[in-house]
Amino acid sequence: MRLSVIGCGYLGAVHAAAMASIGHDVIGIDVDAAKVAALSAGRAPFFEPGLTEILESGIQSGRLTFSTDFADVAGAKVHFIGVGTPQVPGGYAADLTYVDKAVDALLPHLSSDDIVAGKSTVPVGTAARLAERISGSGATLVWNPEFLREGWAVKDTIDPDRLVVGVPSGDAGAIASDVLREVYHPAVTQGTPFVITDYATAELVKVSANAFLATKISFINAMAEIAEVTGADVTMLADAIGYDDRIGRKFLGAGIGFGGGCLPKDIRAFSARAEELGRGESVAFLRQVDEINLRRRERAVRLVLDALGGSAHGKKVTVLGAAFKPHSDDVRDSPALDVAVRLHGLGAAVTVTDPEAISNARALHPQLTYVRDRDEALEGADAVVVVTEWDEYRRQLDPAHAAGLVSRRIIIDGRNCLDPGAWRAAGFEYFGMGRP
Ligand code: UDX
Repeated sequence: MRLSVIGCGYLGAVHAAAMASIGHDVIGIDVDAAKVAALSAGRAPFFEPGLTEILESGIQSGRLTFSTDFADVAGAKVHFIGVGTPQVPGGYAADLTYVDKAVDALLPHLSSDDIVAGKSTVPVGTAARLAERISGSGATLVWNPEFLREGWAVKDTIDPDRLVVGVPSGDAGAIASDVLREVYHPAVTQGTPFVITDYATAELVKVSANAFLATKISFINAMAEIAEVTGADVTMLADAIGYDDRIGRKFLGAGIGFGGGCLPKDIRAFSARAEELGRGESVAFLRQVDEINLRRRERAVRLVLDALGGSAHGKKVTVLGAAFKPHSDDVRDSPALDVAVRLHGLGAAVTVTDPEAISNARALHPQLTYVRDRDEALEGADAVVVVTEWDEYRRQLDPAHAAGLVSRRIIIDGRNCLDPGAWRAAGFEYFGMGRP
């Protein structure tokens, strides 16, 4: 099938390449000529495992092309909208400018049997509004939210846990859902749950899934706060409650909390939308989820200060990690970088290292010192803080080796990803998050 993907950022670029990899003919459209040129040359504009491979093979096969010209969507049966919905400057709501612009630019090129499939994360009610906007063209709008995780984006797109499609009632909806089933045929054939629903439910599935995940992380971080005043160990607590199938161990990793381009902005946009709908109180807890999350960054900073005797001024603090999570070069709302910036603000000489995210981090916070080589970063450190649980720090950093590089043996484990016993055995003072 011929498909178009409007917006070739994180979501759109992965979607376009993934759809070509399962046999479709795909045209990716973006207004950014530099991005289109890079993608056309098979270069991924960000780090995502497996993306370069499917980009290259898609381009070589001739099934995947990119363009800045909306007229090139001609002949596509389904047009996916994958543009960003960032937080509005100075507010909590989602900025829908890019979604609206994409739909307006697509409109003159739509035929009556086309399908416009929204993938972006939007406030509930957006799909109904956009359906109205394109109604004159005769095309059908569906909402098909994306659940991909950075670092697993290719796998999550080709082989998702579930597919959700919000469709209008009547024949148009039934036809559109059959077309979407055909688009995702490999996953559908394998038995991936395919949920056909209305617009509002489809939109809410996405935001509520992210709200639930954020709540789960803040729940365990709240338990970490209690553990800190009682001497309990939150990682053992998480293991023990996680054995209950109804709870599950995933997303119970206590530490410096969640960040990235999705969870923080999505829970804020959800709160803002609920307020507009007169149901602010229904999701009032999300404010606390956000607050607990931000408190954990302060806690990590406090641990560094306490370990250094009350002040970080003039001390070399090595920060291991900058990306908001491993297997990503994304530093948007990164708790890791926030901890580094706060320490810098307190007068510490902060050196940051990360296997993938240094360029992005430097562009955002040029005031910090960045070193590519992990061992060079560790040299002469008065304290080391692990803030992104890359294997390079979690598994491959030998405490005895690190002991030979640092000035003072102090390690703060902001992700509870290290073995306290091994670090203490190498002479380090070890401090975890919610661990004695
Ligand atoms: C998230 C959702 O998982 C995904 O389904 C949605 O489509 C987009 O948002 P992503 O932002 O890529 O994906 O990252 P995710 O793996 O969910 O991690 C988010 C943040 O939570 C990271 O900063 C991570 O370090 C943190 N986290 C995760 C924890 O602090 N503890 C955990 O136990 C798990």
